[in-house]
Amino acid sequence: MDLSAEERAMLAGDLGPGVAKALEIIVALGRVYGARGLVPVTSVQVAGVSYRNLGEAGLQFLTDWADQGARAQVPATLNPAGIDALAWRELGFSEEFAGRQMAVVQAYEALGIAATCTCTPYLVGNVPSFGDHIAWSESSAVSYANSVLGARTNREGGPSALAAAIAGRTAAYGFHLDQNRRAALRVVIRCPVRTLSDFGALGHLVGKHARDKVPFFEGLGECSPTQLKALGAAMAASGAVALYHVDGVTPEADRSHALLPEHETLVVPDLQSAYAALNAEATEIDLVWFGCPHAGLDEIAQLARLLEGRRVAAATWVTTARAIRERAIGEGLVASIESSGARVLADMCLVVAPMQELAFRTLATPSAKGATYVPSHAGLAVRFGTIEQCVEAAITGIWPA
Ligand code: F3S
Repeated sequence: MDLSAEERAMLAGDLGPGVAKALEIIVALGRVYGARGLVPVTSVQVAGVSYRNLGEAGLQFLTDWADQGARAQVPATLNPAGIDALAWRELGFSEEFAGRQMAVVQAYEALGIAATCTCTPYLVGNVPSFGDHIAWSESSAVSYANSVLGARTNREGGPSALAAAIAGRTAAYGFHLDQNRRAALRVVIRCPVRTLSDFGALGHLVGKHARDKVPFFEGLGECSPTQLKALGAAMAASGAVALYHVDGVTPEADRSHALLPEHETLVVPDLQSAYAALNAEATEIDLVWFGCPHAGLDEIAQLARLLEGRRVAAATWVTTARAIRERAIGEGLVASIESSGARVLADMCLVVAPMQELAFRTLATPSAKGATYVPSHAGLAVRFGTIEQCVEAAITGIWPA
């Protein structure tokens, strides 16, 4: 592997053991994937934040690395944690978990990572430009950055993203290289795809089929960034899709170049099988979850309209980035939503929260990614449908027929 003199010095420990360790991780990965060299990164996003997943061993690993003098060299943010740092007590999470979770976030801060805990960093200032090399690890954010923004990242693991932040570079393989960004799967849409849950259902279907291939969508028409966010998140959850192109919409979707000549074709006649796969039999709904991936201001405004003058019967949580929550407070949206009894929460994700500490058994969500992960990660039976169906379930506590 071709390393510069500076990189060789970093690897030899000239900048301390913390930097040497970061280089070792990046170079080892680069060797595995056949990288010829390293590439500087402009932004990093680190997953592996919930204490539920990290445990004491993970926390110790972070603390040791910080003690070795390791610090992020480029702007870096975190994935959601297991709790809202301010509202955890009211939600019923234990003091014990909250204490360990705070310790994890503090360990990351000691490493120079901003305690911005969100899976949508691109909505709160961590916005890469077209062509930027970055190292992100949250799968839905990786998909958005590659596909919608045209930045370049592989689907990093938590430690490799952290290593990239500390080294300021990553190994140049995979989606950092032009030749790997072309589509091997042409997806022809032959049905209406209108609602946010439709985009998620489509993503669920295509992700299962594509696995880690790059899909090229035809027939989707105009799509909003929020719809693309749902599509990419679902494909990253049911498969391992890290980059996709949408004809006439995404920045690298120049058909003659983006689609490999020897591609496979998938025709999607309807979305029924995805809706069926993502729905359990549950009728009574204990908890309704919006904001997976974390909600943007547009989604929060829509929920405020739908909940106006109503009262929820089921616990109803909207998860978002803390900075978006602040803006929503400024626009009166949080007060409006919370007057219905629903909560607008920051920093957290239900999939990595210690949900076993609470008494919920069933959940409704318009997120295909949430519906994919919640049964196995949070142990709840899930109903998946439109935002309107989920609002109805929040109001009545019953999944609408
Ligand atoms: Fe984000 Fe958690 Fe959903 S990380 S994409 S809210 S599963």
